[in-house]
Amino acid sequence: MKTVRVDLHERGYDIRIGNGVEPGASLAGEPSRRALVVSDAVVDPLYGDRCERALRTLGHVVTRVVVPAGEETKSLDRLGELYAAAAAAGLDRRSVIVALGGGVVGDLAGFAAATYMRGVRFIQAPTSLLAMVDSSVGGKTGINLPQGKNLVGAFHQPIEVAIDLNTLATLPEVEYRAGLAEVVKYGVIWDATLFDRLEADADRLAARDAAALTAVVARCCEIKAEVVAMDERESGVRAILNFGHTLGHALETADGYGVWLHGEAVAVGMAYAAELSVRLRSFPEGTRDRLVDLLRRWGLPVSPAAKGTAPEWAALRRAMGLDKKSMDGQARFVLAEKMGSVVFGCAVEDGALADAYREWTRKASDQ
Ligand code: NAD
Ligand code: GLY
Repeated sequence: MKTVRVDLHERGYDIRIGNGVEPGASLAGEPSRRALVVSDAVVDPLYGDRCERALRTLGHVVTRVVVPAGEETKSLDRLGELYAAAAAAGLDRRSVIVALGGGVVGDLAGFAAATYMRGVRFIQAPTSLLAMVDSSVGGKTGINLPQGKNLVGAFHQPIEVAIDLNTLATLPEVEYRAGLAEVVKYGVIWDATLFDRLEADADRLAARDAAALTAVVARCCEIKAEVVAMDERESGVRAILNFGHTLGHALETADGYGVWLHGEAVAVGMAYAAELSVRLRSFPEGTRDRLVDLLRRWGLPVSPAAKGTAPEWAALRRAMGLDKKSMDGQARFVLAEKMGSVVFGCAVEDGALADAYREWTRKASDQ
């Protein structure tokens, strides 16, 4: 097992990564607590019993609640149901909420934990690759509104992240590959050596080779932990984690939640951000092509038209204006300078955005 520390002083915590890792280590030695395990309808039947057993063995009183699987679950209605479940289970300020599942469950249950009784503790037990390398670490929690992704939320750090790599065995292929998109992101924004390794190990990673996966998940968690420790509440450098997300979130919003997997939309967004970076920051064309080739090799989309027709630019532009990183309706981008190095907060003029979008959509659909 490998442990990565998220160094946030009194809010610091360990990420434990390995085969068979169970949640609850951070509660060791505590008297019996009430624990609400939140999972979705796919993950609960697979891993709910094991999670419950692990917590009961530590002496805690466990209630399970199951939400529907999918992005639509990050909603006010489902959040209300979680509050009701927490109240019915008799949770108090010393209780803990455990998010067992992908990023949807993590964001929803984490936000319930951030707000129920003005904040109770929570544990992240991620079961999708995307949640393991990204959403379970760093304390961003929240839900969507029809107007935009993650528009309601809070920073609320978990007390522990327990990553059981064995759970990836049941993750559907398309979800696994969507998680690889966020893995690629870390190479582009922070670590050119990681990107080289991803290229070299592309086939082993596609085949979910345990050794390759353990090393890569651990490295991604290390990078995320380092960035979050520098800038917990995204007043600066943490914004680099949004590389590819400005267009990605807009695609998810404009096409309606449930059409794009988050990682797929991020893959398209990264390809678009790379194109913008070539045009505006002298990012080498060859490096852009390496990024696009790796995404394609893993069967990830790189064109906004990948789900049928590409959304109208006007709809995407509107959605970008509502992005949390926008200022006065002006979208902000993370752009790459070279592999492993990006700049954030780049305001890009509307005409340049539209030109790059049209050109990139045409080029990506032609190939
Ligand atoms: P998800 O939670 O919808 O999980 C994907 C699908 O895989 C679901 O159907 C789920 O039931 C299933 N699944 C999960 N683990 C499984 C397993 N081990 N075996 C079988 N099926 C399994 O989606 P996701 O890709 O994990 O997360 C996407 C969400 O994360 C988005 O809402 C995104 O906005 C959010 N996100 C948040 C952050 C953050 O910092 N908080 C960062 C990135 C993404
Ligand atoms: N996924 C972006 C962040 O955690 O900041």
